Amino acid sequence: MATTLLQASSLVEKDRACIWHPFTQMHTARPPIPIVRAKGAYLYAEDGSSYLDAISSWWVNLHGHAHPYIVQKIKSQAEVLEHVIFADFTHAPAVELASRLLSILPGAMSKVFYSDNGSTAVEVALKIALQYWHNRNTPKTKVICFENSYHGDTFGAMSAAGRNEFNRPFWKHLFDVKSIDPPLKDQEDKSLIQLQSILDKGEIACFIFEPLVLGSGGMVIYPPNGLSRLIQCCRQHDVLTIADEVMTGFGRTGTLFASEQVSEKPDLICLSKGLTGGFLPLGVTACTNDIYNAFLGDHLHQAFLHGHSYTANPLACSSALANLDLLLEDACNAQREMIAECHKEFCQQWQLHPKLKRCENLGTILALEYQVENSSYFQPMRDRLYHFFLRKGILLRPLGNVLYILPPYCIQNKELKLIYDRIILTLKGDL
Ligand SMILES: Cc1ncc(COP(=O)(O)O)c(C=O)c1O
Repeated sequence: MATTLLQASSLVEKDRACIWHPFTQMHTARPPIPIVRAKGAYLYAEDGSSYLDAISSWWVNLHGHAHPYIVQKIKSQAEVLEHVIFADFTHAPAVELASRLLSILPGAMSKVFYSDNGSTAVEVALKIALQYWHNRNTPKTKVICFENSYHGDTFGAMSAAGRNEFNRPFWKHLFDVKSIDPPLKDQEDKSLIQLQSILDKGEIACFIFEPLVLGSGGMVIYPPNGLSRLIQCCRQHDVLTIADEVMTGFGRTGTLFASEQVSEKPDLICLSKGLTGGFLPLGVTACTNDIYNAFLGDHLHQAFLHGHSYTANPLACSSALANLDLLLEDACNAQREMIAECHKEFCQQWQLHPKLKRCENLGTILALEYQVENSSYFQPMRDRLYHFFLRKGILLRPLGNVLYILPPYCIQNKELKLIYDRIILTLKGDL
């Protein structure tokens, strides 16, 4: 268990000397926890303590850490072809992965464009959408997003989420987007009216959204019907739709992709995070044939002039193929159902607790919002919750006063119960 969290180790001292960590105020942060190995749902620290990884290490891990099947596939691939430039060259793992993804993605996706992570998958989608209209000589240049959404930390991805506290230092440099409220339960009409009034002015190139859950925005869950009407309205106005499934993809929401639950399908889909099972960075942007065709022509300037050094890295693609093998097994499906069922039972029992403003689940995601005066990512309660769970040997990383569980699918019933028991302690006043 996590007993010596605050003790600096030599690795920690070396870390402090040379590393700047993500999403961290380095001036006030406690020393990082030195992890030396991981197995299944557990992370093991240098001092022998262990942590139950209840957030899949920033939502990437699907089948547990160091899963031997994925390890073996990456090893075998590394012995044959570790990497090759992907302009003018190709390789089997990239082709096989694209074709397998296209066969399971919702909608009429027909081509896959590879990049490196969630933000680049979003950048690619936005650039494709904007260039689609440019190539067709149509003056549509603006983007619509949901208020309180998150699409990544590169400039395009930051812009596409609208102005917020995360990207305040860069507001002057972000391109202009129009935002609408997400179609929360019983507020679908409001979102639709907002969308319609923006669309009526013309000039909109695309609408980007996180389907069914606004992740970093506080695990805000909303039903599919309202989103379906928004997509339909975009289609009527000839506006492209981008489903950012970076977080929701690969079974998190109860279906393989959240867009499966929405009757109208998007024109572009962004994937990353769970794509490789949490082993290697990889991004995918899938699009329809109509979009792909708009980039064909006799001149290079009509092409999509975008790429990254590690585009379609063969190791990452092999990892993603192994991940898909495991994901599509009945046993994995049964695990996801078990997790969803446990979450549901927990919600039924605790949703009316006076300390909770909200307690809900969607598939394998459980979200609890504690009652506080100002709900926000910067709520001081966040640190208390975070360290409370770490002391109990559980890695949960609250978004302000919103606590969520987003576990790897290998998690066992008794481990879920252990997390719930600790959450119940916070409701009973142990925090
Ligand atoms: C919905 C969504 N899109 C994009 C991203 C960015 O992904 P990455 O951190 O891999 O750049 C995230 C990351 O949390 C996300 O949740």
